[in-house]
Parts: sequence; structure tokens; C-alpha cells
Amino acid sequence: MKTYLTGIKPTHLPHIGNMLGAIKPAIDFSKNGKSEDRYLYFIADYHALTSVRDSEDFKEHVYEIAATWLALGLDPAKVIFYKQSDIPETFELAWILACNTPKGDLERAHAYKAAVQANKDAGKKDLNHGINAGLFNYPVLMAADILLFDCDIVPVGKDQVQHVEMARSMAQRINQHYGDVLVEPQESLSVGQYIPGLDGRKMSKSYGNTIPLFVPEKKLKKTINKITTDSKEPNEPKETKGSLIFDIYQCFASPSEVQEMKKKYLEGISWGEAKVELFEKVNAVLSEPREKYEYLMANREVIDCHLKEGAVKARKIAGETLDRVKQRVTGF
Ligand code: ADP
Ligand code: TRP
Repeated sequence: MKTYLTGIKPTHLPHIGNMLGAIKPAIDFSKNGKSEDRYLYFIADYHALTSVRDSEDFKEHVYEIAATWLALGLDPAKVIFYKQSDIPETFELAWILACNTPKGDLERAHAYKAAVQANKDAGKKDLNHGINAGLFNYPVLMAADILLFDCDIVPVGKDQVQHVEMARSMAQRINQHYGDVLVEPQESLSVGQYIPGLDGRKMSKSYGNTIPLFVPEKKLKKTINKITTDSKEPNEPKETKGSLIFDIYQCFASPSEVQEMKKKYLEGISWGEAKVELFEKVNAVLSEPREKYEYLMANREVIDCHLKEGAVKARKIAGETLDRVKQRVTGF
């Protein structure tokens, strides 16, 4: 039996990069995996507290991410689906891990290093300016999320691989000192596709270049129209290589549709027409999940109910792990 676990931090409207790079591949695992395997997918809401300061926003983002998972096909009968803050055992394990983690390891974590670097670049005297202890401890909390569930495989994007490796070394350190008590995650599978954003950089909310998943059709069309192109005229043959419209189209279309689009590029499809085709493709893929998403956002008690059920299942596992760890660490 293998346990798969992954989480998403609710800080913004989910975009097609999140869908194709993280959410869809995780859902496919749960659909195609062996029946004895265990899947835990959760909303890493307390991770968002490092940056979200408004409770209304916080709550909204939690529902948005939860509705997105469900709208894209997560089946709560197959996946234990919950939110992190409903599992208080997480925070207790995080403390135990923190007390066994060298501070220097956390100083080498990329999110903290990037924040220090940003302060350096801005000429700040205090290199820790604006950095809260939650951001510094982020990898410890993430390790607790993972280690609490004896998990083997953590499907995450490339940007999260370092965190999974840190979780593994925290487990190793505890095991070396206290005897084998935590499962060391074997793999972090970086399975998803890499999705470029409207301006060609990685699609990311930090760059403001995203195509949000579940906005109304009109807004989706407007966003797709913002994709940057070169200045080739209609009827001029165009390169698919380096064309963002084509790159994104490929992520949504079937192989034969992709071939067809290649032909159209050679024949000189105008950028305007290419954008219309892209919009139609993306919209066709997203329209059914969008309806489901809108239904869930309007009926949040359905989401609450799934999350509550998931939390009960998750806490059973979490409680057992924590008891085992406490026994070794404190003797009680
Ligand atoms: P963002 O970069 O917009 O802040 P997050 O860091 O919240 O997104 O990412 C959540 C998940 O989605 C992570 O597993 C991440 O690897 C994945 N992801 C985010 N952007 C992309 C992208 N452009 N292509 C592929 N996967 C992505
Ligand atoms: N840090 C992840 C992100 O920013 C979210 C996350 C929190 C997570 N805990 C996790 C992912 C445990 C995988 C496993 O996207």
C-alpha cells in the first residue's frame, strides 16, 4: 500500500497552471491508482496565514480552492479531503519537529532565502525586514503535514521539491535519535506540466500573468486576448515554437487538434483567430467544471460537509502517528 499526499495553499484564485501542474495530475493518481493505495489531498490553509491578513479573504480562498478540487473531479469517496487547520495534531507535530531541526537548515530554504534576497536588492539594512516567523518555519509545518500521515509519495511542482526533501531529512533525524518512528517519504513526484503565463514567464499569481480557471466566459476571453504575440501579419506563416497561444492550446487539445493547429500556423492563421480558437478550446474544457464550481461556491455547506468528513478520517490517522511520536519523544 502506498500513501499519496499533497496540499495547496489558498492564497489566490486558482489558475490553469495550478490545474495542469498540480491538481489534475493528483486527481488522476487517485483515479488510476491501486485500490489499496491511500490518497490525502488537503487545503494548506494555515500556510496561507504567512501572507493573508484579512479573515474574509482567507475564508474565500479556502472555499475557492476546495471548490476547485471538487469541480475538477476529486472524489471524496476515494480521497481523504480536508483542510489543514481541522487537524490540530499537525501543529503539535510541527513543534516537535521544529525542536529537532537546525535553524541553519531553515535559513537555506528557498522561500526564506528569496525574501532575504529581496530585502538585499531593495537596499534594506534589516535583511529580515517584513519576514515573519511563520514564513521562516514554513518547511517545518509542511513536514508535519507530510509526516503525520506516514506518506510515501508527495506529488508537487518543482518549486516544492526542496520542502519535501527537508521533510525527509526531518524524519531521518527523528528516526536516528528516537528509533524508527516516522515514515520517510520516498518520492516527491514532480508530475505536472509547466504552464507559461500570459507574458511567457511561468504562470504565477506573483507575476499577475495568470489565466484564472473559473471566471465568467467574457472575462476568460478578455484574458486570453492579453497573451503576447509577435508582430506577424495575418496570412504570414507562423512558428508554433515559442508561441504562447500554441503552448497553452497544446495543454488542452487532443493530439489531432494540435496537428490541425500546426497546419493553421503554417497557413498563416491570424493571431486574433488563433486566440479565438484557444478561447473556444479552453472554454469547452472548463465549462462543465465551471458550472460545478459555481454551484459549490453558492452552496458552501456542501463543501463544509466534505471537508468535515475528510477531517474525521484524517484525524484518526494523525492521532495514531502523533501518539507514537509523543511516546518516543516524551515518554508519555
Ligand atoms: P503560484 O505560483 O501561482 O503562487 P502556487 O505556488 O500556489 O502557485 O502553486 C500551487 C501548485 O500549482 C504547486 O504545486 C505548483 O507547483 C503548481 N503550479 C503553479 N504554477 C504553475 C505553472 N505555471 N505550471 C505548472 N504548475 C504550476
Ligand atoms: N507548500 C505548498 C505550496 O505552497 C503547499 C503545501 C503545504 C503542501 N503542505 C504541503 C504540499 C504538504 C504538499 C505536501 O503549494
